[in-house]
Amino acid sequence: MQEVLKLSLIGCGRISSKHIEAALANKERLQLVACCDPVIDRAQRRAQEYRTGSSGLDVKIYADYREMLKKEKPDICAIATESGYHPRIAIACLEAGSNVICEKPMALSTHDADAMIATARRNNRKLAVCFQNRFNAPVQRARAALEAGRFGKILHGMIQVRWNRDESYYKQAPWRGTWDLDGGTLMNQCTHGIDLLQWMMGEDAVRVQAATRRFLRPIEAEDFGAAIVEFASGAVGIIEGSADVFPQNLNETLSLFGEKGTVIIGGLAVNKIETWRFADSSIIGDAEDKVLDPNAKDPPTVYGFGHTALYADFLDALEHNREPLVNGEAGKKALEIILAIYKSQKTGQPVTLPVEFSTSEMKGVF
Ligand SMILES: NC(=O)c1ccc[n+]([C@@H]2O[C@H](COP(=O)([O-])OP(=O)(O)OC[C@H]3O[C@@H](n4cnc5c(N)ncnc54)[C@H](O)[C@@H]3O)[C@@H](O)[C@H]2O)c1
Repeated sequence: MQEVLKLSLIGCGRISSKHIEAALANKERLQLVACCDPVIDRAQRRAQEYRTGSSGLDVKIYADYREMLKKEKPDICAIATESGYHPRIAIACLEAGSNVICEKPMALSTHDADAMIATARRNNRKLAVCFQNRFNAPVQRARAALEAGRFGKILHGMIQVRWNRDESYYKQAPWRGTWDLDGGTLMNQCTHGIDLLQWMMGEDAVRVQAATRRFLRPIEAEDFGAAIVEFASGAVGIIEGSADVFPQNLNETLSLFGEKGTVIIGGLAVNKIETWRFADSSIIGDAEDKVLDPNAKDPPTVYGFGHTALYADFLDALEHNREPLVNGEAGKKALEIILAIYKSQKTGQPVTLPVEFSTSEMKGVF
């Protein structure tokens, strides 16, 4: 019989309900033992959601995660606090012997991301970053086609995130849009799509040129960004990300162009295959390539359904002592591209990767 691992949730705000959902969906291998949040009501609400879904299993409540680490000694900590707090909390959890599933972005500087990766390695613990859209069925299907070589050489790709985050969204939580705790729309909303773009381009990003703006929103950081990203293979990526689209979320679309294949995955949050064309379709067979689903529905929120699959992958990685699909190194790649975009806006110059940068260096840029 499989061992049931102990999970603690640190940070019980908006996204944490997806962690409760993922814990419940994986409950034969995982039990939530604690919810931590200095705002106790929020911890209690999430604990109650879990109890309801698990027929009354006990969940402890903590205001202080350090006390929780000492008392509960969880196998896994899920971190869903404000982004700027992720590194300090993740490092404390890893040092205490827990494995960590960390919300995106893992950190707001390359230095902090490196410290998290090094701490996980030193303590022989696993670290995963919540890029759950990698687990969307159409995205997995495109990745399988890429790995099978069906695109031939990848030439260029594009991610468009055309969403709306209005003033009320930023007012709900004052940390949003600040350089110390969040970053702008590229770091918060677009980080998933930027991760997908770089994952599909096959090789590391080597050069970034960008223009970002704070057009409309009353925040410190950008609400729009455009960038050209060159990859080591010579492939070129194009990024367009906005929180200003009138009057509501429009689309998040990943486009991939290879010498022998074209795939476009759109919908509200990269969840619908819109174009699927390959030179080898006649060999692979039409049935295999009939993937366009006109009835595919947008998920109820742009968070999608991927947290459950990401948890399952993490549990499998622990069981088989392999790396999770989005480990610390993988999670750092999108972060580094976004920080290079920020540096390019600040300096007015193209930026070569690898780069060392932090959102705190952007203060006063707009
Ligand atoms: N994967 C996704 O699709 C996705 C979606 C939304 C948000 N996020 C990320 O999740 C994180 C949280 O976002 P949110 O919208 O839920 O924020 P939120 O403001 O709703 O919740 C954050 C919570 O963390 C708590 N917190 C702060 N310090 C803490 C500490 N020391 N210990 C325990 N709890 C603490 C706060 O009190 C708050 O309740 C951010 O990093 C964000 O980027 C990811």
